[in-house]
Amino acid sequence: MNAAREPIGVIGTGYVGLVTAAGFADLGSEVFCADIDEHKIDMLKRGEVPIYEPGLAEVLARNRERLHFSTSLEQAIAGSRLLFVSVGTPPTYAGDADLSAVLAVVDAMPASAQHALVMKSTVPCGTGRSIARMLADQGKGELAYVSCPEFLKEGSGLEDFTRPDRVVVGDDGDGWAGDAVCELYAPLGAPLVRTDVASAEMIKLASNAFLATKISFINEIANVCEETGANVLEVARGVGLDERIGPKFLSAGIGYGGSCFTKDVSALKLLAANSGYHFQLLGAVIEVNELQKRRVVSKLTRRLDSLAGKRIGLLGLAFKPNTDDMRGASSLVLAARLQAEGAHVRAFDPVATAEARKIMPELDYADAVEEVIAGADAIVLVTEWAEFLALDWAAVKESMSGTVVIDGRNALDGAKLRAAGLDYEGIGIG
Ligand code: UGA
Repeated sequence: MNAAREPIGVIGTGYVGLVTAAGFADLGSEVFCADIDEHKIDMLKRGEVPIYEPGLAEVLARNRERLHFSTSLEQAIAGSRLLFVSVGTPPTYAGDADLSAVLAVVDAMPASAQHALVMKSTVPCGTGRSIARMLADQGKGELAYVSCPEFLKEGSGLEDFTRPDRVVVGDDGDGWAGDAVCELYAPLGAPLVRTDVASAEMIKLASNAFLATKISFINEIANVCEETGANVLEVARGVGLDERIGPKFLSAGIGYGGSCFTKDVSALKLLAANSGYHFQLLGAVIEVNELQKRRVVSKLTRRLDSLAGKRIGLLGLAFKPNTDDMRGASSLVLAARLQAEGAHVRAFDPVATAEARKIMPELDYADAVEEVIAGADAIVLVTEWAEFLALDWAAVKESMSGTVVIDGRNALDGAKLRAAGLDYEGIGIG
């Protein structure tokens, strides 16, 4: 069999599942996707894409012949031996990862030595071992198991699929499945980390926790810069040039959002706690991030006195640009805090408004950025969408009622805004 053309099954058609399916189809694999959500599967069959991810619609469309969608697992099991699991593992009320969707897939697997579960969903370290035990108890011990964590970022998922920094493949035997997964990824030419299942699981959690730590670290540096007159952009540039540190993920702002960092940092902390270890550092990372989301409120209060009755415009709602994902978005906390202070909050996001409405139905949503700016006492850049960076700031000044612009992402040109007569303030940049 031509390794690059090994057919695969993909169970769960969220961000990870769909990008994986599209990526492997583009490399030549026949891909059998399954999801219990009928509505999603119907959309996909019609050629519609249920999520916003740049380029995804095009790649799915050009591989339509190779992509098959179904609400049952039968097609995937019949058509492929590698079943990539990419179902959700949201946090439980206790903060651990909820593995019910993963376990439902395990239960639905046949007793087959010809098949392998390839775990892409982010799961706590130790899950692979528990699943192996479960399979054995169910008389399905022959089924192979591989951990193959995903590192793609929303908004650049396809690019990350095609050019991964590394591919991690963990298996505990010398079986065929780990080799087959490596072969599938081989055309990408990425560095391969072939390891055991537990280490593969931990690589994923540790990577996200480290990136979140980097962000909380630079956010605290930014806060100290504000007290000392230093500029965090200069500091991050100087620090990031040290090759041991690196320049990425040193952008200060209003905190990290998204489903992954928030979920995985807390899941790793609790995983440690459940095994009797107190992971102190991650407690601080989480707390710094929560406080950072609220920092804009004190900046606005300092400039506007009371926020009661003030009109505050939010530019952007999504947790980052190029996605409609609102999970864990800093805007949720910020908007709620501003409303609690009595402000009138109006918001616009080019893509995420529909998602935001589901979570914050009471917010005042605008249909265009101009409507957020008009009459505002202050505006806050929450998500650095390109269209906000290209605004005509002289026109913004004319249209606003006040002059305050808080740049929650340090993405605007402060000098330009000041020249237009606006009171510009970023995070840690004076
Ligand atoms: C993150 C990881 O970057 C991926 O490697 C991982 O695969 C993914 O989680 C996952 O586990 O599924 P993602 O959540 O899509 O990806 O988004 P990021 O680009 O990492 O951004 C996360 C948040 O951090 C955003 O709110 C972003 O604005 C913020 N951020 C990022 C900063 O505040 N500063 C930075 O320097 C970088």
